[in-house]
Amino acid sequence: LSQTKFVNELPIPEVLQPTSGETYYEVPITQFEQHLGLFDESGKALMTTVWGYNGSYPGPTIEAYKDVPITVRWENNLTDKDGFPLIHLFSIDPTLHRADPDKGIPVVTHLHGGHTEVASDGHPQAWYTPYFEEKGEHFVKENYEYANDQEATTLWYHDHALGVTRLNVYAGLAGFYLLRDAWESSLNLPSGEYEVPLVIQDRLFLENGDLFYPSGIDELEDPLEKPLPSDVTVLPEMFGNIILVNGKAWPYLEVEPRKYRLRLLNGSDSRFYELFLPGINFYQIGSDGGLLNSPVRQNRLTIGPGERLDVIVDFSDPQVSGQTLIMKNTARSPYPFGDTPKANTTGQIMAFKVTKALAGPDTSVIPLNLRPSPINDLGESTETRKLVLFEGTDEYGRLKPMLGTAQDGPLEYMDEITENPMLNAVEEWEIYNTTADAHPIHLHLVHFQVINTQKFNVKQYVPKDENSIQLLGQPKPPSPENAGWKDTFIVYPGEVARVKAKFDKEGFYVWHCHILSHEDYEMMRPFYVGEMPL
Ligand code: C2O
Ligand code: CU
Repeated sequence: LSQTKFVNELPIPEVLQPTSGETYYEVPITQFEQHLGLFDESGKALMTTVWGYNGSYPGPTIEAYKDVPITVRWENNLTDKDGFPLIHLFSIDPTLHRADPDKGIPVVTHLHGGHTEVASDGHPQAWYTPYFEEKGEHFVKENYEYANDQEATTLWYHDHALGVTRLNVYAGLAGFYLLRDAWESSLNLPSGEYEVPLVIQDRLFLENGDLFYPSGIDELEDPLEKPLPSDVTVLPEMFGNIILVNGKAWPYLEVEPRKYRLRLLNGSDSRFYELFLPGINFYQIGSDGGLLNSPVRQNRLTIGPGERLDVIVDFSDPQVSGQTLIMKNTARSPYPFGDTPKANTTGQIMAFKVTKALAGPDTSVIPLNLRPSPINDLGESTETRKLVLFEGTDEYGRLKPMLGTAQDGPLEYMDEITENPMLNAVEEWEIYNTTADAHPIHLHLVHFQVINTQKFNVKQYVPKDENSIQLLGQPKPPSPENAGWKDTFIVYPGEVARVKAKFDKEGFYVWHCHILSHEDYEMMRPFYVGEMPL
C-alpha cells in the first residue's frame, strides 16, 4: 500500500434530508464499498468495505435547531442483498461482556453530547439486530426522539453496542450532528462552505485496501496464564498508521485567503492529537457543549477521543498566500507519555492549500463576546463523589481498565449502581486517575463544568481506602478552552479532575472512558438518575 499524501480532496459529508415532513429521518445502516483515498503500487484506486449511515462513511451531517425536536429511525440494514444478516467485518472478542445476539450484527446509535431522554440515548444494552429481531435488555423503542433542548454546539452520533462499539465505529459508524440556534446565527461566524466539519480517525489497512483490526494476542508479552481464544481483539489501545479525515487518507482542502470555522472531532479509538498549523493561530470559540465566553487563541490544540473543538482560523495573512499548510500532530501515544508520532505518517493530518481566489469580501468575525451572558455556575452541589480510574489485569494477563469509587475500589460494568443522582441534583464528581495514561472521561446526558484539577500521590493510594488519597499542591482552574461546557474531559495520570453537572432527566445512563478499546472492556459504568426502580 503506497499512500501519497494530500492528493485526495477533503470530502464534506452531506447534510441529511428528512424522509418525510421536516423532522422525521430514516437512516439506514449498511455495508458498502467506498474509496478512502488509498491506492495500490500501480496507482489504482482501492475500495474499502465499510459500514455507514445512509450509505456514507462518515455518516451524513444532521443539522438540527434548538428546541425543534426531531425523530430518527436508525435502521439496522446490515444484511446481504437477500436480506440475510451479515457477519461482522472484524473478530468479536468472545471474552468481553458484550451484545451477543444469536445472529446478526448488533447496533445502537448514541448522540454524543445530546441532552437526550433515556429511551433514545442509545444505551449500550439497547442494541438491536436487523428488523429489530433481537434486542438488548435496555431496548425501549425503535424511533429515537432528540429534544434539542440545549444550546448550539457540535455533537456527533456513533455506534455504542456493548462490547463491540470499537469495532462498529472502526467499520465506519460515526457522523456529525450540528445543533444551531438563533444566538449563534446572529454572531456572523464563518458559515456555508466556510464552516468545515473535520473528523479525524486513524486506521490500519491490508494491502488490498480493506480495514485491518489486529488480534489482541500478539500484544501479550508474558506467557498466558489461561489459553485465549484465537480471535480476541481487545487491545490495551488501538492505534492506526493511516490518518483519515472525513473518511479520506491525508486529504487536502483548498481554501480562500479568509476566515474558516473548523469543527474538529476526534473520532479515533485511542489516539489523542496535538494539532498545529505552521504560521496559523487557532481561535477556539467552542468546546463540547457550546460556545466559550470569549475566543481563546492557541497555536496548538489538544483533542482526546470523543472531544470536539470549534475553532476559527484565518488564512488571509499574505505570508501563507499560495502555500500548502500541513496540519501536524505531535501527541504521543498512548497519551501523554507514549511514542512520538512518526513524522511521515501519524505526525501529519491534512493539508490546507491557500490557493483559491477570494470569492467575495470576508465579512465574518471572531466576536469578542461569544455568549449572550457568561456561562453560569451551576451553584452548590448536593453530593460529592470520589470516583477512580484503575488499570488491572484480567485472568489472561491482559490489561483491564476499570472505573470505580474510592470506597469500593475497581468495579465492573455489571456491578451494582454506585452513582444515583436524584432528579435535578447538581453533583460534583471527583475523578482520580491512578493509571499511567490519560483517559477522556465522558458522561451521557449532561454537560459539566470543570471546577479544577489537582495532583495526588498515586503511590500512596490504596484502593477502597478513601483516606489514602493524598492531594498534592494546589487545585488548578481549567484552562480557558476547558472552562466552557464539556461532556468529555481528559483526566491526566496522577491527577484528579473535579467536574460539576446537573442531572435533569431520569433513567439509566452510562459514563465511560472514550478510548473505545477501554469502554468496550469494562471502563464503563452505569448511573441512574432519579428514584431507582426496584
Ligand atoms: Cu461518544 Cu458513550 O459515547
Ligand atoms: Cu481509558
